[in-house]
Amino acid sequence: MDWLAGKLLAWFDECGRKALPWQHNATPYRVWVSEIMLQQTQVQTVIPYFERFMARFPDVQALAAAELDEVLHLWSGLGYYARARNLHKTATLVANSGGEFPTEAASLEALPGIGRSTAGAIRALAMGQSAAILDGNVKRVLARFHGISTPLASTATLRELWGHAEAHTPAQRTASYTQAIMDLGALVCVRRAPRCPSCPLAERCAALATQQVDEIPRGKPSKAKPVRRARLYVIIAPNRACLLQRRPDQGIWGGLWSPPQRPPERSVEAVCAEFGIAPSAILEHRTTPIFRHTFSHFHLDIEPHYLLIKRQPRQVAEGSGLMWYTPEGPAPVGLSAPAAKLLASLDRVFDEAPPTG
Ligand code: ADE
Repeated sequence: MDWLAGKLLAWFDECGRKALPWQHNATPYRVWVSEIMLQQTQVQTVIPYFERFMARFPDVQALAAAELDEVLHLWSGLGYYARARNLHKTATLVANSGGEFPTEAASLEALPGIGRSTAGAIRALAMGQSAAILDGNVKRVLARFHGISTPLASTATLRELWGHAEAHTPAQRTASYTQAIMDLGALVCVRRAPRCPSCPLAERCAALATQQVDEIPRGKPSKAKPVRRARLYVIIAPNRACLLQRRPDQGIWGGLWSPPQRPPERSVEAVCAEFGIAPSAILEHRTTPIFRHTFSHFHLDIEPHYLLIKRQPRQVAEGSGLMWYTPEGPAPVGLSAPAAKLLASLDRVFDEAPPTG
């Protein structure tokens, strides 16, 4: 067996993670959902989401039969919502073609949201196949072990890393090996201050031998994120219902529900007019301090505006991407994280804050 694979398997038996929820009953469905959740999110965050998701959607048929709104609701807070939309799409495709995931790499990779590494993980962890993965942790382990100091994102580096990933992946115990190399990246060969003295690969690690552990992996130079600004209008009717608007499918929080979001340049009157609310119908207008929500590519500075109105305007018809939502009631829909935060703070805003409007 390959030296690295042998060392990793021995290390895994002693130190690897064996009680993660997706490791028992490791069906293609469960492994797929966990891999999608883990793509951008830490294990400790994912675990409760995974458990709730499996309780509600125990198999691919249940997920395919669900409304996208409910899937997004269970995803609320995990971020990167395209993952949830793709999950739902893929569930529909799999359920409509017999309910079993395809076992060949090319067919798996043709499904929305499943790339080469995720397909490899599903095949290795759930299908007993010898397939390679190359996620962020594995890239770092292999780049250090082989002393690859070119930028990780470059096509040539990725090609080289995939070559190593495939060469090391053993034909036997592939699932344990796959979990082992991910665990090594997460627990030992971490980005900052890696624990080289405890590493089973230290003896032959090129980065360690040449004192380049801190220089590898090389990232791309980081750009400062631009800052955008938006207002969120929390429009509250006398029965305490708040107006929510469904976000366009494309763009941030696609498909989630949120208080209407408008550019700061648009006047309060213009926003109210959109919903048939006359200026005389506004009982109170309050603002709370701007807060920042950070996405992968920009910061969004959010100005909350709370409008208490005299009556629900007739113009707002439910079922047209608008709904009245009562925070006390159960939430049957996906709310964006800032929306959930603003709605949770309603009582405080009206009971304590001084008027500003
Ligand atoms: N990251 C991606 N897949 C993982 C897994 N199966 N276990 C832990 N972390 C992961």
